[in-house]
Amino acid sequence: MSSPTIPTVRLGEHGPEVGVQGLGCMGMSFAYGPSDAEESRATLDRALELGVTLYDTADAYGDGENERFLSPFFKAHRDEVVIATKFALSIPPDDPARRIIRNDAPYIRQAVEASLERLDVDVIDLYYMHRRDPAVPIEDTVGVMAELVREGKVKQLGLSEVTAGELRAAHAVHPIAAVQSEWSLFSRDIEAQVVPAARELGVALVPYSPLGRGFLTGSFTQAETLTADDYRRTQPRFTGENAAANAALLEVIRAVAKAHEATVGEIALAWVQQQARVHGLPVVPIPGTRRPSRVEENARATTISLTEDELALLEPIADKVAGDRYADMTSTSKGRE
Ligand SMILES: NC(=O)c1ccc[n+]([C@@H]2O[C@H](COP(=O)([O-])OP(=O)(O)OC[C@H]3O[C@@H](n4cnc5c(N)ncnc54)[C@H](OP(=O)(O)O)[C@@H]3O)[C@@H](O)[C@H]2O)c1
Repeated sequence: MSSPTIPTVRLGEHGPEVGVQGLGCMGMSFAYGPSDAEESRATLDRALELGVTLYDTADAYGDGENERFLSPFFKAHRDEVVIATKFALSIPPDDPARRIIRNDAPYIRQAVEASLERLDVDVIDLYYMHRRDPAVPIEDTVGVMAELVREGKVKQLGLSEVTAGELRAAHAVHPIAAVQSEWSLFSRDIEAQVVPAARELGVALVPYSPLGRGFLTGSFTQAETLTADDYRRTQPRFTGENAAANAALLEVIRAVAKAHEATVGEIALAWVQQQARVHGLPVVPIPGTRRPSRVEENARATTISLTEDELALLEPIADKVAGDRYADMTSTSKGRE
């Protein structure tokens, strides 16, 4: 039986029309413990059936492995999918705690060629700068990205974890279609400056980790219970006393979920989606999952509308969260604001 598809929205003033919810593909190869490739492939297929068209990856996810894994799916559905990938961040496989950030022209040029080769496509639909290297002027970085557009290697430009000032400076060089930053009931720092700047410039917001890396679904309550290589073990809010305090914050979301006969995760996603109306800009969250049943559940969130009273109930949560979203916040927009 075919399912109804999710609504669509334009990704920035000149960007493509995409399903109002995308799919984060990172966990299929990286960060969140072992994956089952068959199940991940079934998840991609199910997402597409549901009208999910924006697929998010990065060269850093598994040192290129995620792009390679997605390539056959993208090639089989080239005209139906919008491929988003990123450059700037590399994680040495022999030192997974280390992050190397580069925004310079020679690096970008080799990164785009490597991504095109791994994805095995002629053009990347949306190419993001993943992290900012403050040593390189943003105008220079976006200048090189704009050359990639002119050369036909990339269609649209995006930036991840930039400040409002960086977004404005970049947008003056070349239109930016989307800013991708963390945004969820637990992580709302971008609302102060980045979101108003994006609205003013006609830039879409693509919230990453909209389910608080799974914590907002209740699927784990302490990162210590996850596998030894799970990235969430490094995030202060998911371990020890912080995690216990934060788990208690889910109670109010559970109450709202009950009223909608929905799951906690659906309410968390519906809240992010509804920020489009609250802030007056296109919002396309990219929840990550490797399971077809969860992609169905997450897509259902696009049908949920929260009342003003419910939004008011959920409002205080973020201020009560214990622990930052990263152990080192220097490469986030908040760290530079
Ligand atoms: N720009 C950046 O710096 C940046 C940073 C992080 C992430 N991202 C992108 O954003 C995407 C999404 O973020 P994320 O994956 O970090 O976090 P997320 O979407 O908030 O949560 C993903 C986690 O939630 C679980 N999950 C998903 N749906 C669920 C459901 N319905 N019920 C229970 N558990 C559920 C997933 O497990 P299963 O997979 O096992 O279902 C996974 O562990 C990533 O895939 C990546 O593409 C970008």
